[in-house]
Amino acid sequence: MTDYGKLSVSNLTSIAELKTDDVHTIFGVAAEMKRNRSSFPKVLQDKRLAMLFEKESLRTRVTFEVGMQDLGGTAVFLDHQEVRLGTREALKDVAGNLSRWCHGIVARTFRHRTVQDLANGASIPVINGLTDYLHPCQGLTDMFTLAEIWGDTEGKKVAFVGDGNNTCHSLMHAATLLGCDVRVASPEGYEPNSKVVNYAMRLAGEMGTEITIIDDPRQAVEGVDCIYTDVWASMGREEETEERAEIFAEYRVTEELMGLANADAVFLHCLPAHRGMEVVTEVLDGPKSYVLENAENRLHVQKAVMALLMG
Ligand code: CP
Ligand code: NVA
Repeated sequence: MTDYGKLSVSNLTSIAELKTDDVHTIFGVAAEMKRNRSSFPKVLQDKRLAMLFEKESLRTRVTFEVGMQDLGGTAVFLDHQEVRLGTREALKDVAGNLSRWCHGIVARTFRHRTVQDLANGASIPVINGLTDYLHPCQGLTDMFTLAEIWGDTEGKKVAFVGDGNNTCHSLMHAATLLGCDVRVASPEGYEPNSKVVNYAMRLAGEMGTEITIIDDPRQAVEGVDCIYTDVWASMGREEETEERAEIFAEYRVTEELMGLANADAVFLHCLPAHRGMEVVTEVLDGPKSYVLENAENRLHVQKAVMALLMG
């Protein structure tokens, strides 16, 4: 992969560890992989990816497995019941063993610390496939999709409406790195993590962009170029679904809310979506929605990440 450049990191645990140039490198490779999917060189020939998943998945699992196949490698899926990370065996030992058989690890875990510990214990690249705190593969893909739509992301305005969760955090990281103004509207007590907000504000200060954290969804989306939402109750918080449905009722993305954004604003959601909850079907399936393009792009962006880290 020397022709395509190198990343400044050896794992992808958080977008906050990347530089803007890293993101452009990933996007360049992803765009080429997307353009030439069938003829792109098998840069991961004979490489093996271990996939450790403590939580459910459709998109992440399929795109990593298909991505490895596309690039000439194979993936080994291990679910939580088999490995019981940190319970049956210390994380350090799991990471050390996998490093002797495989060339990369993608992990989807509850605690963010688990992915960090795996990265510390492994001598092969570790990719965060979602933790309670972050979803970097998603955040990178979201901005790749927006860059495809807009051409240039600098100066654009992105609003996240809803729970200040893992998806929101990684979107904040990625959008800030790529020069966007970011607004987040969440109910009190559900705002994004202060570490992520501080990172975004510091970077925005250097880049001359703006970060706004408010509770009013209507104010947040006024004049923006993208409205983004995600489920109100993330995996692991399902028992709060009813309570959150009441708390978040004003944060539903409707056609009326979309109407407050710029006329050519787009809608994004990481999926899975709960129709009629955080977003109405008319918006999710409507002409402004790029959710399936975004889901497709998970494949191209993650292939680029794997090729750059494992190639
Ligand atoms: N967006 C996303 O990560 O989807 P899955 O949970 O289905 O992997
Ligand atoms: N915030 C959601 C994202 C799912 C892809 C969750 O963690 O369940």
